Amino acid sequence: PDALRSLVESRIRDVQDFPTPGILFKDIGPLLADPEAFAAIVADGARRHTGRVDFVAGIEARGFIFGAGLAHAMGVGFIPVRKAGKLPGPTVEVSYDLEYGQARIAVQEGAVAPGSRIVVVDDVLATGGTAAAACALLELVGAEIVGLDVVMELAALGGRSALVGREVYSLTVA
Ligand code: PRP
Ligand code: MG
Repeated sequence: PDALRSLVESRIRDVQDFPTPGILFKDIGPLLADPEAFAAIVADGARRHTGRVDFVAGIEARGFIFGAGLAHAMGVGFIPVRKAGKLPGPTVEVSYDLEYGQARIAVQEGAVAPGSRIVVVDDVLATGGTAAAACALLELVGAEIVGLDVVMELAALGGRSALVGREVYSLTVA
């Protein structure tokens, strides 16, 4: 785990003032371009979740990348949690607060059988608003959330407090 953490940290690039002044952006481009690093992340998730989940849900957009890789590695289905307005209906949607403004996400009704065990995947846990909304939304359509997996957690933004009672796994903490 320490070796994986170092590898992942070495492949994430800090970008100051992107997309707006004052924001420190975590660029996962170098990580995705390194096949060994990507494979190691997927293998780590598969080792922890194989046999205990029925689906992987990925949060648009960057959660799709890691989530689809993990679903494929475990031989389970993938559920996209999309920004509202992208999926044909019927859908179930929830709104949540961003630092500035609001966002709305959607899943398709009937995408998961009631009681399906799901691990939710995203790249970054920041305030936790996105991940908490995705978990709540999947529960609304009948899923049982096994946990949330992220590549990176920005601890200063306190995302875990939005996910109290849930199993949260992060490969690296910044
Ligand atoms: C980023 C990131 C997480 C979310 C974390 O996504 O990929 O999904 O923000 O923030 P939070 O914990 O404060 O909710 P973003 O909405 O920027 O879009 P993208 O993944 O489509 O690039
Ligand atoms: Mg995102």
